[in-house]
Amino acid sequence: MEQVMRNTFLYLSKNKALTKMARKYGLRFGAGRFVAGERIDQAVTSIKELNEKDLCVTIDYLGEFIDTEEEANEMADNSIEAIRAIGRENLDSQLSLKMTSMGLDISDEVVMRNMRRILDAAKEEGVFVTIDMEDYSRCGKTIDVFKRLREEYDNVGTVIQSYLYRTVKDMEDLNQYNPNLRLVKGAYKESPEVAFPEKKDVDDNFKKIIEMHLLNGNYTAVATHDDTMIEYTKEIVKKHGIPNDQFEFQMLYGIRPERQLELVKEGYKMRVYVPYGTDWYGYFMRRLAERPANVAFVLKGIIKK
Ligand code: FDA
Repeated sequence: MEQVMRNTFLYLSKNKALTKMARKYGLRFGAGRFVAGERIDQAVTSIKELNEKDLCVTIDYLGEFIDTEEEANEMADNSIEAIRAIGRENLDSQLSLKMTSMGLDISDEVVMRNMRRILDAAKEEGVFVTIDMEDYSRCGKTIDVFKRLREEYDNVGTVIQSYLYRTVKDMEDLNQYNPNLRLVKGAYKESPEVAFPEKKDVDDNFKKIIEMHLLNGNYTAVATHDDTMIEYTKEIVKKHGIPNDQFEFQMLYGIRPERQLELVKEGYKMRVYVPYGTDWYGYFMRRLAERPANVAFVLKGIIKK
């Protein structure tokens, strides 16, 4: 049953018509639990609240199904607006973004031009930028964009997903860049030809890449809500004497907020991924796919109204 629900929400997350409809009608159906608002000023308010609790942030202007150069340029302008807000308001925040929203599916030239604009602005404001990882079909291209940008900028990192078979090889290859990587399990529906179908294998590979990246001496963001992985990271850093400033934990906005604060109290760096914008639909569907309890929460909210 859980698998059917997961597949349904992942299928719905890719629906273009529903994405466009959601854009028009605004944040609904309890999506406000996972998305900090539709406008930058709402996101800034949320970030200030999190920063006051010693949680640092990475902000993401949501955008999916970007088909034209104009839309991609507009998306980049919005990310630059977010970077300027971080500088102006003195927020403890980085920026995250997806390459498809910068024009990855349009042309190499568009995506590189938009990324250079963003990274130049980010450099001026002292902001680090993480390139999110999308579905398998874009993985190779995204890593390629990251490598080229990393040769020009030191304020850029990317994401590696433990569910892909290719991941360990990618990490070995990326090591020459001493990359700052966010490690995740992976959020998209992939075929067993490219990704581990069994959760146990995904988890084992996650542990493997956490250890690998830390022992390579690289900055490691362990992005998970899974206590087993959090405890595993703590064990590895203790065992090898890895300092607290070589790694951090990351969680999504609205998910396990108490656990986030506990980790801060324990002395760990904890970063919250704060998405905002009118394109909340696909992101929201992926969160529902991850956990039946999220669906129950949303249904409760709808019934209450
Ligand atoms: P998983 O879903 O495997 O759950 C394992 C266990 O964790 C559960 O059994 C439960 O014990 C606990 N748990 C999970 N959620 C809980 C909750 N809400 N309440 C209580 N317990 C809970 N993906 C991607 O493909 N590309 C990307 O760029 C990113 N970026 C990203 C950034 C950040 C900051 C995070 C946290 C995640 C991502 N992801 C991502 C998503 C990631 O790939 C993955 O889909 C989700 O984090 C879910 O996997 P988990 O590791 O959290 O645990």
